[in-house]
Amino acid sequence: MPARVFHGTIIHSRGPSDLLILESSVLVVSDNGKITNVILGIPKERVPSLLSSLNIPSSAKIRYLSPRREFLIPGFVDTHNHAPQWAQRGLGQSMHILEWLEQVTFPNEARFADPAYARRIYSDCVESFLRQGVTTASYYGSMHAEATTILADLCWEKGQRALVGKCNMDRNAPPYYRDSSVEASLADTEACIAHVRRIDPQGALVQPVLTPRFAISCTPALLEGLGQIAGANPHLPIQTHFNEAEQEMRFTAELFPEFRGSEADLYAHYGLLSSRSILAHCCHMSEHEMRRVQELGCGVAHCPVSNMTVGGGFMAAPVRDFLSRGIKVGLGTDSGGGFSSSILDAMRQALVASNAREVMSEGRDKGLDIGELFFLATLGGARVCGLEDKIGNFEVGKEFDALVINANAPGGIMTMLEDEDSPRTIFDKFIMTSDDRNITEVYVRGRSVKP
Ligand code: GUN
Ligand code: FE
Repeated sequence: MPARVFHGTIIHSRGPSDLLILESSVLVVSDNGKITNVILGIPKERVPSLLSSLNIPSSAKIRYLSPRREFLIPGFVDTHNHAPQWAQRGLGQSMHILEWLEQVTFPNEARFADPAYARRIYSDCVESFLRQGVTTASYYGSMHAEATTILADLCWEKGQRALVGKCNMDRNAPPYYRDSSVEASLADTEACIAHVRRIDPQGALVQPVLTPRFAISCTPALLEGLGQIAGANPHLPIQTHFNEAEQEMRFTAELFPEFRGSEADLYAHYGLLSSRSILAHCCHMSEHEMRRVQELGCGVAHCPVSNMTVGGGFMAAPVRDFLSRGIKVGLGTDSGGGFSSSILDAMRQALVASNAREVMSEGRDKGLDIGELFFLATLGGARVCGLEDKIGNFEVGKEFDALVINANAPGGIMTMLEDEDSPRTIFDKFIMTSDDRNITEVYVRGRSVKP
């Protein structure tokens, strides 16, 4: 018995330069949320007979997408998101990273010691990301174990696919917002991992992720302990900040002179770099680090909005170079850093950053095109999060994480449609000028989750 059938225009990506726009297509979702059929070129009037030939009962819910105006795309993947920064967005935008952490972020994140506060903010955070089409998020929690378990519970209840990690930080943070010891930090981490595995034993929706904030905030003993947890849990993803800003890189090099300025060597030394690693930012990469990240199969969470506001300077990560080398890349909102929690904005700012990079590289690294931006927001992000077998596009067998787009939503401000617009033109208008009003339905594993 299928849960849902869609008919109309379906748009998805098979790779950075492989955008597919499939008109008059049928997509069938089973009641366990998996895509069972994608059949191209079926006129609307032939849908019932097609469904009966597939033994799909006539009682199946069929959603006919309005021609031209509506289309289906995969859900967005936010590969780097600080849930406890949800209520501080917009603050301290021109500060350098270490001052921003100390003056704005740590005092704010410290409030998550209060479980009632955590529940209120996280509830709004998860709902708002779902409303904006973020069907998967890789979340940093605060340093608090209880608040982090609340975040995982809320993702599970509200139906958002998520990686959720307690943030590890036992130094270079104020005494009121710092893990009390290496042992306490590791014990809280293990407790959070166990909690997430208890609520979702198969990791069907919510998974734990190791989350050392960055090397500056972790003592060598803590990094070592986290590396041991990574070694003992071969499928556990790992996330951290990596070569984000010059100020951060200088201080890291002072704290760990033995790695001679290479964060790749630093994190690799502690067993934290592998194909399970999600490295946020990667703005400044030496040739050596590029090679290490490539060899080890790490993924990059590109956060262009944050990189051009909070941090210090105008940081444009070398995304074209990552793609050319086959390094996994997705987009992050870094919600908290930066002014926007929208993956649509992240796509647009990734275009700006790539254009800056084209100038900086004297034309060698070409700017990204819209198909590539869309890939980063969907399949690219799924690869970075280790979820490419489950989500990222509409391959048969994957789970149905999807958005219904209405290009002519009431009260919206997307570029108006003209009679002569091709589906590709409408898609480009959507990517560059829409907002969440154009995202009218949101599905995760086949379940409708738009708040
Ligand atoms: N580096 C360490 N912590 C943070 C954070 O919360 N945001 C950003 N952008 N960078 C960081
Ligand atoms: Fe961040």
